[in-house]
Amino acid sequence: MKVVITGAAGKLGSAICRQLRESHEIVGVDVLGEVDLVLDVTEYESCRLLLKRAKPDLVLHTAAWTDVNGCALDPARALRINGQGTSNLAAVSAQLGIPMLYVSTNEVFDGKTSRPYSEYDRPNPINGYGYSKWYGERALGQINPQHYIVRTAWLFAHGGGNFVQAILDAAAAETPLRVVINEVANPTYTEDLAAAIAQLIETERFGIYHLVNEGIASRWQFARFVLDQAGYGETGIERISRHQWQRPSLPPEYSALANLAGANIGIRLRPWQASVSAFLQSEGYSS
Ligand SMILES: NC(=O)c1ccc[n+]([C@@H]2O[C@H](COP(=O)([O-])OP(=O)(O)OC[C@H]3O[C@@H](n4cnc5c(N)ncnc54)[C@H](OP(=O)(O)O)[C@@H]3O)[C@@H](O)[C@H]2O)c1
Repeated sequence: MKVVITGAAGKLGSAICRQLRESHEIVGVDVLGEVDLVLDVTEYESCRLLLKRAKPDLVLHTAAWTDVNGCALDPARALRINGQGTSNLAAVSAQLGIPMLYVSTNEVFDGKTSRPYSEYDRPNPINGYGYSKWYGERALGQINPQHYIVRTAWLFAHGGGNFVQAILDAAAAETPLRVVINEVANPTYTEDLAAAIAQLIETERFGIYHLVNEGIASRWQFARFVLDQAGYGETGIERISRHQWQRPSLPPEYSALANLAGANIGIRLRPWQASVSAFLQSEGYSS
């Protein structure tokens, strides 16, 4: 299969490119970075020319403005990149008869629940990032009938710039750690998600999927597990409530996802603790 992957320089996009290159023809695109082609998804004509020339069998759209605080401060920009950028790709892929997969987020939900959200639960975003990603979901759902929408949560990846690395860096620098106890979701390893997406695109079972590592955790439990596994068992973490961690973008409180649709067709991700251990091991940490 020939696949155009947007966000190819990003955490998830680069993991997907690496894994799919083994058995597919890949065209990795991004606004910047070491990619096959440069593409700004907010430019409709650039999207049209690229897909017309490349003639892929699938558009796999991971590109996004993922700075959640930036999205809260500039919701119009969030909507332009995450919402309208997705709508551009949806329109062009639909015109050319190409299926499209869009990676979305647990932040499309409002977090006012106490059980993991299923694929059939109703989104109700509460911040600029969540709203812009939901706009993208609805655009794709309405424009291109051949779509997969893959919601995921709390990604960690090789190469830094994520929660696990921030916790490890703080522990190494002996910086006092304060972590929120009442935000809950599913820590998810980009390598596991990339493998699950590789499975999904072979199925042509279009629809909404919640692909996350199995199990749930609070931010505090996630951080505690990382430190214990990485040999920082003695490092303390102060437990704080989400309102003690002031941010421009308040995330949903309980935004864990349940993988029902994927499991139904044999796509499951291992428990998050096993993924964190594998990740730490490959980064050279051991408990
Ligand atoms: N990270 C998480 O915890 C998480 C959780 C749930 C869902 N997701 C979703 O998963 C997907 C991948 O996330 P990630 O963590 O891998 O994000 P990431 O590392 O920030 O990668 C996103 C990539 O998209 C690029 N991009 C930004 N604006 C663009 C534009 N206008 N045109 C083309 N490319 C553009 C970014 O470039 P610049 O870096 O130069 O801006 C970046 O290389 C996103 O759709 C995100 O919404 C992420």
